[in-house]
Amino acid sequence: MENSIQSRNSVVSGGITKETLKELFEKAEKAVENAYVPYSHFRVGAALLTADGEIFTGVNVENRSFGATNCAERTAVFSAVAAGKKEFTALAVCAPDAGYPVPPCGICRQVISEFMEKDSPVIFGPVWEKVVFSSVSGLYPEDSLHELAR
Ligand code: THU
Repeated sequence: MENSIQSRNSVVSGGITKETLKELFEKAEKAVENAYVPYSHFRVGAALLTADGEIFTGVNVENRSFGATNCAERTAVFSAVAAGKKEFTALAVCAPDAGYPVPPCGICRQVISEFMEKDSPVIFGPVWEKVVFSSVSGLYPEDSLHELAR
């Protein structure tokens, strides 16, 4: 699907348009301001679109016990689930301190696969102009332990 986003105003995948993804990325970019990163100084923001059209944001929240750190993507997912949402149709991730697009880590790929369809867009970049357009299955082709779900 990476090639299907070349045309303007088009549906990228999963029924989501490029305009919607840009709006979502801008929310992630804004959320970055709240990242709690005293150890890495590497800020990440995420924005998650729910099936009913709401947007939940998240940031990375670090801890002096480093393993307790939570990535921006999972913060967004957990905030949305805590608010009663369980179906998400797109995810945008902004890591402005990197000069290149930083994709979700392995744990976050597993977590988003729980709540998003395979063709749902996942986009990531330091700025909109450098965003990479992928999808849940693009990042996580073999959906681990799916047989245990539902
Ligand atoms: N981080 C995220 O929040 N999301 C990613 O996709 C990659 C990594 C955070 C974790 C940690 O706070 C910092 O970035 C450096 O790894």
